[in-house]
Amino acid sequence: MSTRLTWLGHGTWLIEAGGTKILLDPFLDEQPTAPCKADQVEADFILVSHGHFDHVADVAPIAKRCGATVVAIYEIATWFAEKHQVANTVGMNLGGGVALPFGHVKMTPAFHSSQLPDGSSGGHASGFVLTIGEERIYFACDTSLFSDMQWIGRGGLTAAVLPIGDLFTMGPQDSVAATQLLKAEHVLPAHYNTWEPIAQDAEAWAERIRRETESRPTVLDPGGSFEL
Ligand code: NI
Ligand code: MN
Repeated sequence: MSTRLTWLGHGTWLIEAGGTKILLDPFLDEQPTAPCKADQVEADFILVSHGHFDHVADVAPIAKRCGATVVAIYEIATWFAEKHQVANTVGMNLGGGVALPFGHVKMTPAFHSSQLPDGSSGGHASGFVLTIGEERIYFACDTSLFSDMQWIGRGGLTAAVLPIGDLFTMGPQDSVAATQLLKAEHVLPAHYNTWEPIAQDAEAWAERIRRETESRPTVLDPGGSFEL
């Protein structure tokens, strides 16, 4: 069974594994670099890392159209259930894991704020470690660098997806340090080039990853896929 990661621009990813489609932080309709619109994607599960607009914007319409289950920290899962009538939600919290039909999802801490668009508290920002078959994939989501990433990397990671945009998250410099802590086989950049303030030279970043870490970088264009 192979797992395919498709970058839909910004912090949005589609993970396909054994016929299951998992969306992370769908933000498509108002995202300048998105390769498709929200009504063009299918999902069985939608993982939500935190409450900011550029991560939750398209969650409810996709969840309702597809009957997808929203997986998020308790506050955000409850917000989608109560304020957006999303029928299926799984609320969890930092450090917790849940077995789902496609594999295991563990919620990791992220250092970031998390207010929802209507001012509700989104609890704490998070990332995810997905275990699918033999693969372990870490999505740092919106976060700064933190030294506990070395613990997240313990046990081995097939891939790590890190923000490199700077300003709202860690930038290229800290993502190189994060890569050194995580020691994943592959590392992929995200959360950059969406707008001018988070523009980055991904090829220069990839060169630094090759030179300064043991991990292999893969730079995708929005719409591009990586097969694990
Ligand atoms: Ni954010
Ligand atoms: Mn963001």
